[in-house]
Amino acid sequence: MAVQVAITLFAFIVLTTAKPPSPITCPIVFDGRVAKNLTLQDFDTDGLTPYQAGYVHGVNLTWSKIVQFPKAPPSKFDSTHDKAVEVTISDGSLFQPGGGQVQTGFRRAGFLLGANNGSDASNVGVKTFHWSVKQDQNPRMGMNLTHEYMNVWHETNDYSHNQFSFKAGVVLFVPKSNQTNKRTWKITNYKDEIVWSTPIDFEDWQNFAVTLDYNKSTLQIYYSQGNDPLRVATHPLPNDNSGGGQFQIGVAKKPTETQGVVYDGYQETHIHEGQIYGGIFVEDSSGGCVSGSKN
Ligand SMILES: *[C@@H]1O[C@H](CO)[C@@H](O)[C@H](O)[C@H]1NC(C)=O
Ligand SMILES: *[C@@H]1O[C@H](CO)[C@@H](O)[C@H](O)[C@H]1NC(C)=O
Ligand SMILES: *[C@@H]1O[C@H](CO)[C@@H](O)[C@H](O)[C@H]1NC(C)=O
Ligand SMILES: *[C@@H]1O[C@H](CO)[C@@H](O)[C@H](O)[C@H]1NC(C)=O
Ligand SMILES: *[C@@H]1O[C@H](CO)[C@@H](O)[C@H](O)[C@H]1NC(C)=O
Ligand SMILES: *[C@@H]1O[C@H](CO)[C@@H](O)[C@H](O)[C@H]1NC(C)=O
Repeated sequence: MAVQVAITLFAFIVLTTAKPPSPITCPIVFDGRVAKNLTLQDFDTDGLTPYQAGYVHGVNLTWSKIVQFPKAPPSKFDSTHDKAVEVTISDGSLFQPGGGQVQTGFRRAGFLLGANNGSDASNVGVKTFHWSVKQDQNPRMGMNLTHEYMNVWHETNDYSHNQFSFKAGVVLFVPKSNQTNKRTWKITNYKDEIVWSTPIDFEDWQNFAVTLDYNKSTLQIYYSQGNDPLRVATHPLPNDNSGGGQFQIGVAKKPTETQGVVYDGYQETHIHEGQIYGGIFVEDSSGGCVSGSKN
């Protein structure tokens, strides 16, 4: 009897005092996770969400018209206070950089972290960029994988190239012999070469992480599905990580039949597509720390 009481009491204490362990175990540089109490309108004001209100979206759109809160279970790195967020594109997803020409080649909307100004802590030492993706269960919102999608990337301050990119579909200007199946996610290096790919899962969350070692000039990829621990997907690969830059997360649908990508080529009309994201953050991986990995 006394033992039973002790066990019950013990269980009670554990249940009432144990907090769920934080899914992020390394020092956070930028936390892009979306708290459950954020509203769509909050995305239109700097400082209310982790993301910049003014970038990067259609010239006549605001983030509150682009973002959706999908019914999706929390992703691996979201805490119980966070929710999934969906970035959508439509015919009006035409970006016009300040004073520049409208980028009619792309349909794009991408989050930029508020404090990620291109010459911040995420651009020195050893940093890991995390994001998880899930596909909308409405097939009409899905990607048309005849196109190249570049949905996540880290772009240099002079916009000349990306240290890495995360793509799907048919990648433009990559010879057939180098293409992977169009229904795969691919990560490309600073030379736009596909260095790793994995099939797109149309049901489950997929978790990606890229470690940039700015001192050793390497890139390393980690991956898992659902709640599985992240696993090493590549060795540290040589990569030129110089040039500073920003981490962009969303959708950039490139045209087909294009020469220059930005202003020409073919895009279908009447589109409304979305990508679901969760667990976006950047962490300090000096000493080899990568949250959620087995290594
Ligand atoms: C944005 O709206 C302005 C004013 O209505 C219009 O002149 C312009 O063509 C629109 N731009 C795009 C890219 O739709
Ligand atoms: C929203 O929730 C977060 C916890 O995720 C909390 O820190 C914050 O204070 C809340 N904001 C408001 C306005 O309630
Ligand atoms: C970017 O942010 C860092 C860290 O907050 C700051 O030291 C630096 O001056 C900023 N750079 C620019 C160009 O705003
Ligand atoms: C990277 O190099 C900088 C400058 O030499 C140094 O301060 C820093 O400690 C190095 N970081 C790591 C993780 O090796
Ligand atoms: C194609 O693959 C070859 C051999 O791996 C590589 O040298 C080349 O850079 C690749 N080209 C592109 C555009 O990915
Ligand atoms: C996919 O995109 C191509 C090129 O824009 C277009 O011709 C085709 O009709 C699209 N397929 C679907 C199913 O929407």
